[in-house]
Amino acid sequence: MTSNNPQTREWQALSNDHHLAPFSDFKQLKEKGPRIITHAKGVYLWDSEGNQILDGMAGLWCVAIGYGRDELADAASKQMRELPYYNLFFQTAHPPVLELAKAISDIAPEGMNHVFFTGSGSEGNDTMLRMVRHYWAIKGQPNKKVIISRKNGYHGSTVAGASLGGMTYMHEQGDLPIPGIVHIAQPYWFAEGGDMTPEEFGIWAANQLEEKILEVGVDNVGAFIAEPIQGAGGVIIPPDSYWPRIKEILAKYDILFVADEVICGFGRTGEWFGSDFYDLKPDMMTIAKGLTSGYIPMGGLIVRDAVVDVLNEGGDFNHGFTYSGHPVAAAVALENIRIMRDEKIIERVHAETAPYLQKRLRELNDHPLVGEVRGVGLLGAIELVQDKATRKRYEGKGVGMICRQFCFDNGLIMRAVGDTMIIAPPLVITPAEIDELVTKARKCLDLTLSALQG
Ligand SMILES: Cc1ncc(COP(=O)(O)O)c(C=O)c1O
Repeated sequence: MTSNNPQTREWQALSNDHHLAPFSDFKQLKEKGPRIITHAKGVYLWDSEGNQILDGMAGLWCVAIGYGRDELADAASKQMRELPYYNLFFQTAHPPVLELAKAISDIAPEGMNHVFFTGSGSEGNDTMLRMVRHYWAIKGQPNKKVIISRKNGYHGSTVAGASLGGMTYMHEQGDLPIPGIVHIAQPYWFAEGGDMTPEEFGIWAANQLEEKILEVGVDNVGAFIAEPIQGAGGVIIPPDSYWPRIKEILAKYDILFVADEVICGFGRTGEWFGSDFYDLKPDMMTIAKGLTSGYIPMGGLIVRDAVVDVLNEGGDFNHGFTYSGHPVAAAVALENIRIMRDEKIIERVHAETAPYLQKRLRELNDHPLVGEVRGVGLLGAIELVQDKATRKRYEGKGVGMICRQFCFDNGLIMRAVGDTMIIAPPLVITPAEIDELVTKARKCLDLTLSALQG
């Protein structure tokens, strides 16, 4: 706890004494004390020390329309006064959830016109697992239970979410994955492509799906789940050959395809959904994050009509949450979608800011520490390496964490996944703010390189 500010020290003491933070080393956090974020506007955060920080991660990939939009606060306040809560169990509903289900159907890919609401992306994927198995049971194929997922994919942190995800460090705690979930290789050419070209590697990685279907037996496989672009795994943009080959395989075998759109959905790629960007035809799409721009928790599962037709014949679906379709969250989500549409935010990402960010980011390719810059829409990744030609990393130096700290200290939030720096700024970022982001990123790369050499 190094702050001279008594207020910061007081908050950090509260953290030490009472708070258990997600994805944190509790003991280490006590020694250091958390950075206290006090307020935010547009793409900027302020901490309790008075530092202004450009949020290159839109919170946790979620603050699509930027911080400080009064309209969302007003929508929440109005709904809280009118109907702060009612549940959707027992054959009841309320206007905001119904209007939201319609608004989502209007923007979802063709033929996806039904939404099951949850409180988070993880709950959306738990819902998916149960719905997939229920679906196959109704169709008289109850053995089709296995879900194929990918190594280093991220699908949440509940027991099912973490099992579906392919993060080994999560599996190591608590005996995961649960049975019935298997993982195949990820399409991460930079780290795992070896001597193959990206195109060859994309085909190889996609073929792992077919091999796994045959190994498990198509009569036992319920679904394949994947993020269109892996976010938390390190903004992994599949080689161009990957999705077309996956689509061929999916067309060949009778299994469901679930696109986890928790990060890619709601404009991140410059289209409403990552599935639009790659022309995927999912049977289900998990959503959260950008749905409410993170102003209030909400997630869900968008389901294809043909799947709903089967579910309609299955009697009760014995699943749901107290906060499924919470009226206040639904009112905020509706207002968020209205703003995205009326202000043409995704159109602007597509036509202006995504091409500009991608162009400016790639200028960092000339930096000695940078092995690859990649990105799509307002997603970007910078690979930090010791040797550009061979893609060799600095072993055991924690280069990503060093760079992340320099970013924090220099007014930029850029996340580190191992030695991959990643960004996903709010969708409302302007070209001038992109310039600031790239300038700060270059400065932090310089500082990181100096630290490694010193
Ligand atoms: C692709 C993906 N799926 C699911 C989740 C889990 O969402 P939540 O943290 O809202 O449970 C995340 C969270 O980062 C995610 O990135």
